[in-house]
Amino acid sequence: MKLRFVLAEAALELVPKEAWKHPAVAADARRRGREPGSILLDRSTHHEAMLRLKDGPKRGRPDLVHSSILAVTGSPLYLEGRVALYVHTSGDIVLEIEERTRVPKSYNRFRGLVEKALSEEEGSGLVKAYRSSLPQLIKKLGADRVWGLSTQGAERSLDELAEEVVRFERPCVVVGGFPHGHFAPEVVGACDELVRIHAKPLEAHVVTSRLVYEIEKRVATAGTR
Ligand SMILES: C[S@@+](CC[C@H](N)C(=O)[O-])C[C@H]1O[C@@H](n2cnc3c(N)ncnc32)[C@H](O)[C@@H]1O
Repeated sequence: MKLRFVLAEAALELVPKEAWKHPAVAADARRRGREPGSILLDRSTHHEAMLRLKDGPKRGRPDLVHSSILAVTGSPLYLEGRVALYVHTSGDIVLEIEERTRVPKSYNRFRGLVEKALSEEEGSGLVKAYRSSLPQLIKKLGADRVWGLSTQGAERSLDELAEEVVRFERPCVVVGGFPHGHFAPEVVGACDELVRIHAKPLEAHVVTSRLVYEIEKRVATAGTR
């Protein structure tokens, strides 16, 4: 079993053109010595500039994406090469993290890495960026079953879900990489089923770490006693 882990519609993007001239963005870009269109949209500094953006509440949370990525890449399952990690952004760009790559724990270094990857047409290196919708990505992964994690899904225990996931050779799980809202219809359509693992909405990194751990417990890893 090798898990395909997809963080979908992640709130990760370069500042869109309509916000370049907003004072909050212009000042941040100047402070960093960068062009406004080459820095990540970030609610913590660009909140005012985001008020008029379409789907604003779902966007501009690179910190949230970073913590979810770290929850995967710090796991023994990932370090043993049993997880392939894909970050699909709300703008339909996929960041493919090379197997077993340690993503920077420092947020500033992570931001620099992602800004570079998103600025390149066809990125290469440890984080490769390319255009792809979520359904196109799922198709490319050749998964034999796809579970979308969502509060709008059918209630199932995490135990039961993990038991089922490990029975497949190429299972794929999809977690939303956004702070508010729900999966777009095309993401729902790309999943075989939607699963709710808790009565309340949880943060993406909490769902991610719990899910990876439950799957890891059920497959033999080198550190397993
Ligand atoms: C911060 S949540 C998004 C908020 C959204 N309002 C919601 O209810 O899921 C980020 C992601 O975590 C996952 N998630 C959060 N709570 C969950 C739950 N109780 N069951 C299953 N997945 C959950 C989903 O994949 C969701 O897209």
